[in-house]
Amino acid sequence: GPARPVPLPIVLVGPMGAGKSRVGARLAASLGVPFIDTDQRIARRHGPIDEIFEREGEAYFRVAEREVVAEALREEAVISLGGGAILDAATRADLGRLAVVRLDVTPEAVAPRLVGGSRPLLAAGGLERWTRIRDERRPLYDEVADLTIDTSRRSVARIVAQITEWA
Ligand code: S3P
Repeated sequence: GPARPVPLPIVLVGPMGAGKSRVGARLAASLGVPFIDTDQRIARRHGPIDEIFEREGEAYFRVAEREVVAEALREEAVISLGGGAILDAATRADLGRLAVVRLDVTPEAVAPRLVGGSRPLLAAGGLERWTRIRDERRPLYDEVADLTIDTSRRSVARIVAQITEWA
């Protein structure tokens, strides 16, 4: 059908491994708008994320993240936020006015996706740690999400179609 304007930005949130970056890139390409991955922007500016955590600590990372997120949210793009970005109250307030899609995933489905990554919060603790972090943050994701999609058993193409129909 005829192209219909979608609200921009569209922001993807959710736990590590839920597919925010993969879905975001495909969604942006399909809409013909830029894709911003805030983790990538942080890394470009401050170096690899695991090194930031190791050298400067998580609190420093969160400050850098807030700055990059605040900037990104002003752009007409598809934006994928790091899993912990919603810990910041100012970020949650910003998200209140925007189209926010929360991608979720079960521990069973996320396990193979986390193998070999360089996620400092999972370096020790693995799947149990992932599950605990995801459960702790659930109320924050609930607070900001306008649409929730379980990506566990859906293809990226299906998820992109679902978001496009909703937007
Ligand atoms: C984090 C998630 C990561 C990254 C950092 C911290 C978190 O992003 O921002 O390692 O606190 O959940 P992804 O959700 O893209 O893995």
